[in-house]
Amino acid sequence: MRVISVVGTRPNIVKIAPVARLLRGTPGVDHLLVHTGQHYDTEMSDSIFEDLELSQAEVNLGTGSGTHAEQTATVLMRFEQVLHRTKPDWVIVAGDVNSTLGCALAAAQAEVRVAHVEAGLRSFDWRMPEEVNRVLTDRIAALLFTHCEDADQNLAREGIPSDRVHRVGNVMIDSLVEVLRRPGRAGIVQGLGLRPGEYALLTLHRPENVDDLPTLLRILGAVRELATQIPVIFPMHPRTACRLDSVPASEASRIWRGIHRTRPLGYRDFLKAVQEAALVVTDSGGVQEETTYLGIPCVTVRENTERPITVRLGTNVVAGTSLEGIRQACRQAREARGWSREIPPLWDGKAAPRIVEHLLRAADRA
Ligand code: UD1
Repeated sequence: MRVISVVGTRPNIVKIAPVARLLRGTPGVDHLLVHTGQHYDTEMSDSIFEDLELSQAEVNLGTGSGTHAEQTATVLMRFEQVLHRTKPDWVIVAGDVNSTLGCALAAAQAEVRVAHVEAGLRSFDWRMPEEVNRVLTDRIAALLFTHCEDADQNLAREGIPSDRVHRVGNVMIDSLVEVLRRPGRAGIVQGLGLRPGEYALLTLHRPENVDDLPTLLRILGAVRELATQIPVIFPMHPRTACRLDSVPASEASRIWRGIHRTRPLGYRDFLKAVQEAALVVTDSGGVQEETTYLGIPCVTVRENTERPITVRLGTNVVAGTSLEGIRQACRQAREARGWSREIPPLWDGKAAPRIVEHLLRAADRA
């Protein structure tokens, strides 16, 4: 059986790595890793392969940056050629980025079966490109691997037959467990002269938060208030860094008081920084899950989340994007140490073996 696994962006690599490593060692499986090239910088892509001990992709589509339509269309056209050349039985895609939809659509059109890892998540916010990507990918997929009950219910509501849906747990936690198990080296925190438990960590990259400068500056205003109480580390996503380049130098020193800006961190360094933070402020989806697993209070700077289980069971507080909302949520989260919080069922570091088992079973039936 020939299987192609697809990665395109930083979070895709984290999700696919444990599955790809297993498939590469599975007898009877001819596995090919395809990188769409949506993310291409060392920090956004190459170093994550090293941290996850995943050998580089056999094929890179070299997609690069662009509008949503340009990115999706480029992936669609270039992946179609790979499908024609390699004739796989299955294509595995993960998450909700433009590469996910582009490859799933190309596979469907080439009549290749698609397996979707992290299926069924819904923000119910159709303005998010990720929501469109998720819904369409789930519609296309023949096998849908979910990580929580909410996802199963969302899929049932959309009429996806239940025999296609398998709750396998959270592959991101597989990667986290694997990487944090290895002995660490001195991380970014010590490098900045900060101490474990005595700093907050910030990540921001969602277009709705960072593309509009007044919105971004409002969010940073709330973070600046936090920074008067506790130092903040801010590894900047390229999208955010690019937007902030336009801030006049005269204003910059005021904006950055108490905030330590860094380039994007490697995966391992980032997880270490999360693990030792007093508080994380983020608009990322994956970070909401990582903080829940690690029991670190998390303030999500968004109006909604497609991961409500991290609020219900975990450490997540959805703050919205107003100054007052973020202020209140930070207060709530800083008082949260000692909350009784749970790790969601099946977030146990063993999701990838379950995925491979289901895939092999489905292949046997075909
Ligand atoms: C994409 C995903 C988002 C995911 C995020 C993780 C979509 C719709 N969005 O958003 O869901 O949470 O990845 O990071 O697929 N850039 C670089 N170097 C890189 C990659 C990008 O400098 O290696 C810059 C480019 O200027 C680019 C911008 O970052 O225009 C945004 O990159 P893009 O891939 O379009 O989307 P992300 O914001 O990363």
